[in-house]
Amino acid sequence: MVQLTLPKNSTVKAGKVWPKTAPDAVEFRIYRYDPDQPDNPRVDVYYVDRGQTAPMVLDALIWIKNTVDPSLTFRRSCREGVCGSCAMNIDGTNTLACTRSMDDIDGPVKIYPLPHLPVIKDLVPDLTNFYAQLRSIEPWLKTETPTPEKEWRQDHDDRLKLDGLYECILCACCSTSCPSYWWNGDRYLGPAVLLQAYRWLIDSRDEAVGERLDNLEDPFRLYRCHTIMNCAQTCPKGLNPAKAIVEIKKMMVERQM
Ligand code: SF4
Ligand code: SF4
Ligand code: FES
Repeated sequence: MVQLTLPKNSTVKAGKVWPKTAPDAVEFRIYRYDPDQPDNPRVDVYYVDRGQTAPMVLDALIWIKNTVDPSLTFRRSCREGVCGSCAMNIDGTNTLACTRSMDDIDGPVKIYPLPHLPVIKDLVPDLTNFYAQLRSIEPWLKTETPTPEKEWRQDHDDRLKLDGLYECILCACCSTSCPSYWWNGDRYLGPAVLLQAYRWLIDSRDEAVGERLDNLEDPFRLYRCHTIMNCAQTCPKGLNPAKAIVEIKKMMVERQM
């Protein structure tokens, strides 16, 4: 049954305000939640001394963790927009903390975890379902012909067809900005996984196109996209998952003809 009111323990409360250490410090309002504690989620306020940090939001989070509050929890690895692990909601948009400059944000920097996912702790969402969905589309080369001695070859034009797809870093910013994925995330694959599905469907070396399309032919797995385009607007790598989804639908139609 649809639940129209939020459970009481989901209400976000005001949290701790940490001391300001420099007059021109930047205010950060950060979502905090520990499911092992009985308390509701809260928003803590921190002040980041710009003289001591590099410009990106991730730099500020690392500074807070190292100098103010070691309990603040978030994911990060590469610090250069490659691994996708620092995805979070910053100033109302899903993006990467390591490529978002705090100087481009007016007023307090508000940070929440990626929306509509269970929270493991603070800014760390549970991506178990996301990765299971990715695995379900078998994102690897599938072939039947014998493996060549050296390598699977691809000509230049076929290689170009992967542009706009191979760059995806699986950060999940797009899927967690998609209203269809919010409501049907257990059955709809969402834009990130469908972009990956298309990346393998149009790879000239892959020999499992029919099987891959069969795997997507389902009212929920593919057809819950309503072309709302949040995914393309939010992608920090400038990709367009909605276009990939349209291309898959076209392939579905073409194989009927
Ligand atoms: S398409 Fe963009 S937003 Fe979506 S997972 Fe890939 S890189 Fe992230
Ligand atoms: S275009 Fe499709 S996948 Fe993208 S946000 Fe809209 S419904 Fe979701
Ligand atoms: S830390 Fe790797 S993308 Fe931000």
